[in-house]
Amino acid sequence: MKGEIRVMQKKRGQIGRLSCYGAERIGRWFWEIARREHRAWGESKGGLLYRAVHFILNCVYAKAVTQTLLLPASPAAVSEAAAALASGGLVAFPTETVYGLGGDARDGRSVAAIYEAKERPSFNPLIAHVISLAEARKQGVFDARADKLGTAFWPGPLTLVVPFAKSGTVHELARAGLPTVALRVPAHPVARHLLEAFGAPVVAPSANRSGRVSPTSAEHVRADLDGRVALILDGGRTPVGVESTVIACLPGEPVRLLRPGGLARREIETVLGEPLADATDKVQAPGMLAQHYAPHAQVRLDAEDVASDEAWLGFGPAQPAGRPLASLNLSPSGDLAEAASNLFAHLRELDARKPASIAVAPIPADGLGEAINDRLQRAAAR
Ligand code: TXA
Ligand code: MG
Repeated sequence: MKGEIRVMQKKRGQIGRLSCYGAERIGRWFWEIARREHRAWGESKGGLLYRAVHFILNCVYAKAVTQTLLLPASPAAVSEAAAALASGGLVAFPTETVYGLGGDARDGRSVAAIYEAKERPSFNPLIAHVISLAEARKQGVFDARADKLGTAFWPGPLTLVVPFAKSGTVHELARAGLPTVALRVPAHPVARHLLEAFGAPVVAPSANRSGRVSPTSAEHVRADLDGRVALILDGGRTPVGVESTVIACLPGEPVRLLRPGGLARREIETVLGEPLADATDKVQAPGMLAQHYAPHAQVRLDAEDVASDEAWLGFGPAQPAGRPLASLNLSPSGDLAEAASNLFAHLRELDARKPASIAVAPIPADGLGEAINDRLQRAAAR
């Protein structure tokens, strides 16, 4: 089959393209070698020639990762996908509902990369996929109702929103700063093999760009995310075709239906033995969460100076005029993905110092900056 190889350079992006037969296989081959060599480079103190070779391979590495590989979901491809996740890469994979865009749930940078690839203008909380109910219990607090639903319907097209557990490892950015976590045990064999091979929770929103419909085939994913994801595992059409049903089981609340989906309301009500309540303002699904985490302190945006009773939240190398009572930097080098992964934790930490307000440095509005600014504006508007 004829395909395309893109020659990418880390700084300049795409510098050339080559259309040829077997492009996918060549791309995969480069990727495997480059990955191995890249690691070896990190471990070696070799001579000049050795370093020169590795410098070139490092460029190839950038190219190969940026080129999206679409592979039939063979055991070898699944191991490759697990390795990509472990090194912070993104992988699209089939679930029984729709294709998911997966990343390491524990790693803020991977989570930020998901929002970036989807071009999400705000940080909606994501679903963490785990291999079993037992693993789900490590991430969330299950009351009797959640237990009943998990036991009856997992693996399957059901997502449970429960309080985040103390032992949980899902990154705060994936939870959009909420004290809850959305968990799902998928039934699709490819998703299950991937979770087994990776051995940790995988966050995965639907693998489409923001504003487009969810993908039910590997080709749909490629149409939306080509060049933005390391690897697409092709497992054919997804059998259910609509997203999972999202249910909240939170203390002191009736069980609520947050998003209708692949598992029918009636089936859930039969197992529960009571009708489902509707979503309220307090907990809602798609992008309407009124109860995003917000600090107690006032938030002052686009600040260039800071008072002595204020806290400073910086971005980039610039220092503010004045001496704050506490100071943290979202990303000293001005990297928006790093900033996104630090956002909630830094706000929380500064807030704990009880400043009069939190002065925030200007943050560019492009790329992930849009979502970061969206969250900060919500915090400032209260
Ligand atoms: O079928 C599915 O659920 C697919 C596959 C890939 O698993 N995933 C999916 O993810 O549809 P996404 O990100 O497109 O939708 C996640 C939904 C959103 O409506 C989000 O608001 C809700 O789950 N959600 C996630 N965490 C939540 C939380 N802590 N509280 C309330 N809603 C939450
Ligand atoms: Mg979606």
